[in-house]
Amino acid sequence: MTITPHHWITLFVATSFPIVAGAQAPVTFTKDVAPILQAKCQECHQPGSIAPMSLITYEDARKYARRIRTRVLARVMPPWHLDKTVGIQAFKNDRSLTDGEIATLVGWVDAGTPLGSPADLPPAPTFPDPNRWQYADQFGAPDLVLRSRPYDMPARTQDKWFRPVTATGLTEERWVRAIEIKPVNPEHRKVVHHVLTLLEQREAEGVTGLAHEAHGVQRSAGLFMEWAVGKVGEIFAADAGKLMLPDSKIRWEVHMHAIGQEMKNVEVELGIYFYPKGFVPARRTVLRMFDVSRGSELDIAPNAMAMTQNFYVMQAPARLENFQPHMHMRGKALSLEAIYPDGRKELLSSVNNFQWNWHVNYVYADSAAPLLPKGTVLVFTAWHDNTAANPNNPDPNQWVGWGDRTVDEMAHVWVDVTYLNQADFEKLVAARKPAPRPIPH
Ligand code: HEC
Repeated sequence: MTITPHHWITLFVATSFPIVAGAQAPVTFTKDVAPILQAKCQECHQPGSIAPMSLITYEDARKYARRIRTRVLARVMPPWHLDKTVGIQAFKNDRSLTDGEIATLVGWVDAGTPLGSPADLPPAPTFPDPNRWQYADQFGAPDLVLRSRPYDMPARTQDKWFRPVTATGLTEERWVRAIEIKPVNPEHRKVVHHVLTLLEQREAEGVTGLAHEAHGVQRSAGLFMEWAVGKVGEIFAADAGKLMLPDSKIRWEVHMHAIGQEMKNVEVELGIYFYPKGFVPARRTVLRMFDVSRGSELDIAPNAMAMTQNFYVMQAPARLENFQPHMHMRGKALSLEAIYPDGRKELLSSVNNFQWNWHVNYVYADSAAPLLPKGTVLVFTAWHDNTAANPNNPDPNQWVGWGDRTVDEMAHVWVDVTYLNQADFEKLVAARKPAPRPIPH
């Protein structure tokens, strides 16, 4: 939707907040806070989007000032729960606040939420209409559109995970260049919290390049795409794609939460853009689930922290495109470390502020996506916090094991892996090295 200037006009007519013009240029809403809300919050915090309240007008922001302060200081909002002090920090979809932006928001609340001069207010941003296929401009209409079965979401109930299956109807192999997901009815964005789609197909053995992995499970269902508000879809690199096989199926996992208003016939749809028939991209990206719970073994004692670890040896060189940990209410942290064949260790990514109701996909920037030689050991470490100090813990006196319910636990990580041959790997590594400096003469 478009936020029109009318919102602001109403705002200034309606507000008689004193504007304090100080020598030290105090933090004000119009000059300092509004640009941050526009850039980092309003995509979700606008009418008709996923968040429970709008953060568009001065009144909106002032009303929620205390909660904004708490949530941004805890780095829970915006949802980006990665440890910013370690590992790779270049991402395609980084929506986090800088330390300076947090200081501005907190300073504004602590200063009593001053409005500032209307002249400082930046123009309202335009958000793309969320109800059309966003990649159609680039690729034309999607080649294949699949819908989940309709689901009636009651006004009041626990969170629901709806898992229907839809046949793709494909009769031949096709390479996917882009994928997009959206709720069919924009109203339903209010209840559709996030969507996972898994591609179920029979794979030839060894396709994942991870044979002989310790405690791992070879799966023919790979995550096809994950969607949550703030995310449109995925466009693969011009040299890579996902392969869909004949007779494949899409298994949906639609996570909904009740909002006190019944929503009938909730449906989500998947738009798939293919490469032209016969075009085979040089590299194949496959989605891997790296189990951290060592084959569903978790033993989390009451009032205690628990750590679990799992190891995978890369049987072929590869590029990791993203990092998306999955745990439940006791989930606290999950990290990925690489031990290279020369013994060198590198912490690639760590989510140290895990929030069970947010499935954030951290997508590495092209220049930073880890390039792993054959023989690299991936070390995944998950921590669960079953103490009273964890605000999401429903009962610290309960023993917790592996299971599907949110009160049970899990630990795994979804990673898009692009497998490479040795020559290709060396080429990509060489391309990352800074160009040699010209010799002065
Ligand atoms: C990707 C979407 C998204 C973005 C971006 C986002 N939020 Fe949120 N926010 C939500 C959702 C959904 C909720 C409700 C669920 C929850 O609390 O996790 C929420 C909850 C909140 C709450 C708690 C509301 C309450 O009733 O207690 C605050 C405060 C908040 N957000 C502030 C912000 C601020 C400030 C920003 C930007 C700096 C921001 N959010 C960015 C989606 C988002």
